[in-house]
Amino acid sequence: MTSIIPLAEIDPQLVEALLDAAFGKDRHDRTAYKLREGMDMLEGLSLAAVDQEKHELLGSIQCWPIALTDEKGQMHPMIMVGPVAVYPDFQREGIGRAMMTALLAEIQPDDPLPLVMIGDPEYYGRFFGFTAEGTGGWTLPGPWEPSRLLVRTGTDNPLPATGRLGPWTR
Ligand SMILES: CC(C)(COP(=O)(O)OP(=O)(O)OC[C@H]1O[C@@H](n2cnc3c(N)ncnc32)[C@H](O)[C@@H]1OP(=O)(O)O)[C@@H](O)C(=O)NCCC(=O)NCCS
Repeated sequence: MTSIIPLAEIDPQLVEALLDAAFGKDRHDRTAYKLREGMDMLEGLSLAAVDQEKHELLGSIQCWPIALTDEKGQMHPMIMVGPVAVYPDFQREGIGRAMMTALLAEIQPDDPLPLVMIGDPEYYGRFFGFTAEGTGGWTLPGPWEPSRLLVRTGTDNPLPATGRLGPWTR
């Protein structure tokens, strides 16, 4: 049986091995890593999927504090979701969905910060309401595909139309 537990309970070296298997060893050059450079992971929102019987790590989801800085220099805090990773042998068995569902249950319901991620719109749009609508005027600290820059607000509050995403440095 698969359980969802805090990622902080997992040996960081096991998480690195999982991320290498899901994304390749050259993953550190990705724009997503620059986006949250220097930030500490949000431990309360970072989760692991483990096989309870075999005590094996199957998947992980991490969250980071980032912000969108608008043209007036005002920072709008957001939560970056990712990487989301499931070991290739265990993909398409519902583990990704279980981790994201558990994360969404942890988000403040009355005043949620927007969730931002770089990912497949077919997956994250279909199951979790992420959309690239509204992110077209945002810039990132590296190359990105506009259709994969996704946001989920959870409120009716409008997002800034333009701005630069980066680490949340107060
Ligand atoms: C993307 C990922 C996290 C999804 O987790 P998962 O456990 O494999 O997927 P789930 O079992 O929860 O979801 C299964 C459903 O999603 C669909 N799906 C899975 N990955 C998909 C993708 N990348 N794009 C579109 N649909 C996808 C499956 O077809 C399936 O749909 P169905 O139920 O209609 O057959 C996982 O496949 C993975 O780690 N991939 C490699 C790393 C990656 O690309 N991460 C995302 C960017 S941060």
